Amino acid sequence: MSELIEGFISRITGPVVEAKGMRGSRMYDLVRVGDEGLMGEIIRLEEDVAIIQVYEDTAGLRVGEPVVSTGSPLQVELGPGLLTSIFDGVQRPLPLVWKEVGPFIKRGVVAHPLSRERKWHFKPAVKKGSMVSSGDVIGEVKETKSIVHKIMVPPGIEGRVEAIEEGEFTVEETVAYLADGTELKMYQSWPVRLGRPYETKLDPEVPLITGQRVFDTFFPIPKGGSAIIPGGFGTGKTVTEQTLAKWSDADVIIYVGCGERGNEMTEVLTEFPELTDPKTGNPLMERTILIANTSNMPVAAREASIYTGITLAEYYRDMGYDVAMMADSTSRWGEALREVSGRLEEMPGEEGYPAYLATRLAGFYERAGRVVCLGRDNRIGSVTVIGAVSPPGGDFSEPMTQNSLRIAGAFWALDTSLAHRRHFPAISWIKSYSLYLRAISDWFNDQVASDFSELRKEAMALLQKEAELQEIVQLVGPDALPESERMVLEVARMLREDYLQQFAFHEIDSHCPLPKQYFMLKAILTFYKVGMECLHRGVTLTQILNLPFKEEIARMKEIPAEEAEKKISDLINRVKERFAALEVI
Ligand SMILES: Nc1ncnc2c1ncn2[C@@H]1O[C@H](COP(=O)(O)OP(=O)(O)OP(=O)(O)O)[C@@H](O)[C@H]1O
Ligand SMILES: [Mg+2]
Repeated sequence: MSELIEGFISRITGPVVEAKGMRGSRMYDLVRVGDEGLMGEIIRLEEDVAIIQVYEDTAGLRVGEPVVSTGSPLQVELGPGLLTSIFDGVQRPLPLVWKEVGPFIKRGVVAHPLSRERKWHFKPAVKKGSMVSSGDVIGEVKETKSIVHKIMVPPGIEGRVEAIEEGEFTVEETVAYLADGTELKMYQSWPVRLGRPYETKLDPEVPLITGQRVFDTFFPIPKGGSAIIPGGFGTGKTVTEQTLAKWSDADVIIYVGCGERGNEMTEVLTEFPELTDPKTGNPLMERTILIANTSNMPVAAREASIYTGITLAEYYRDMGYDVAMMADSTSRWGEALREVSGRLEEMPGEEGYPAYLATRLAGFYERAGRVVCLGRDNRIGSVTVIGAVSPPGGDFSEPMTQNSLRIAGAFWALDTSLAHRRHFPAISWIKSYSLYLRAISDWFNDQVASDFSELRKEAMALLQKEAELQEIVQLVGPDALPESERMVLEVARMLREDYLQQFAFHEIDSHCPLPKQYFMLKAILTFYKVGMECLHRGVTLTQILNLPFKEEIARMKEIPAEEAEKKISDLINRVKERFAALEVI
């Protein structure tokens, strides 16, 4: 650690403060600004002048007040007690601070992210005399009902274990000594702007199952992948992010509310504690960390909230868990970058965003991935990143959307007209894509059904055909089309309404496991296939549509998952039988 450097404020412009007398400090050093000691970070250094972005409200700061560099960058604390927590953008525990100072965080408050009083039961995983190095697990703590917290040797440390014992410890107490005197505690610190090290990056091959048909079936992403959800005002970004946070089959969820309205975060805070994890039956909060940096909080902290989030995600990845991080909305971070860059009078890039926007975004999304972790047991962990983007006016050609889509592997486009028609989730099946499809198709064929990819392809082709036919229909009406094409329209409607539409708040349909997705899709496509065969042998479309199956297909969503295979297989068989029995009139 370098010695403390103390300068003074020479200029204040909104969230950006200039300080003189800062020679010797470094880029990204954390500083305490003003008499109240507001938290900030050095973002430019020229000789003895430091430009600082301040994470707290700068109102009332005055020129001449002191600025003290802490000599180290913004760090987060990593250890047991993170799960179920709610933090602000710089990892101050929210409910705790709330209790002390009301709903607004008092400026300059210093609060430990992890409780210093709480004791955890530490169970050693290595013995006296063992050699340990970076990433090795020295013991375990049952952090919540869902997650066993691995206590790992911090990167860069190695040696022989001199003493280690089982017992109740606080995070600050030493649980193991190495021969050279190094003390290992249950927590470690890490600078948020630096990706945590791992052994090797792996190719993605296992999908993140979301229980959402439009994603799992049509635009899947792997564990360790990245996706963006761009959407205009009120199209469903937040509902989608929250749905994914609830139902994705990740072990740990990091949810970052970045610059959005406080009430959206309140929804999460009130709803999550009541929900149960479909995988374990435990409360969802037991695998969740919330980071709330709402719109009424200072803009500079938005960036910190994104980095804090991804660092926490990497830490659980390092234990060998599959982690998913949701960020709603990355656009508010982009706007903060723009504001700070403007105050620095930097040369603006496109639409006033800084020229380094693309690099900054890439640096963030590249921290997603599936990796072999440090440590001798070859754990595999992953971080999946799902970022919402809020393009002004829903125009996807703007810089945040364009720069994000170049990096993310999946593009889940929310469509304003679908949202207006209350087709939810309003994900456009025409504009969206997943670059991972090829890499993870085999998994679906092996694990769900051998014809899964085939069905996906057929369904997508029908939806695309519908889009073409719609243009003709708008000109001449549906009656001018041959019956086979009207059949396409009918089945595409089923795919849209009975398959793609999935109401986030429905008791049963909010979550649809993969086998149920498969049987639902199979039923609709069987209806299409045997229906077309009927048309070819001279049966009319009216005869087909008069059978009672349309309604039954529409109600498949409501079948409880455990009965889905039996009930839908039965439906498929009846469709085949009744269609075969149709006579030409
Ligand atoms: N999957 C869904 N199921 C049911 N309703 C939905 C779904 N997605 C969105 N909605 C409806 O759309 C409304 C707006 O969604 P949401 O708040 O997520 O939009 P947003 O894109 O986050 O908006 P903003 O731009 O204001 O942040 C919701 O209140 C809900 O009524
Ligand atoms: Mg929203």
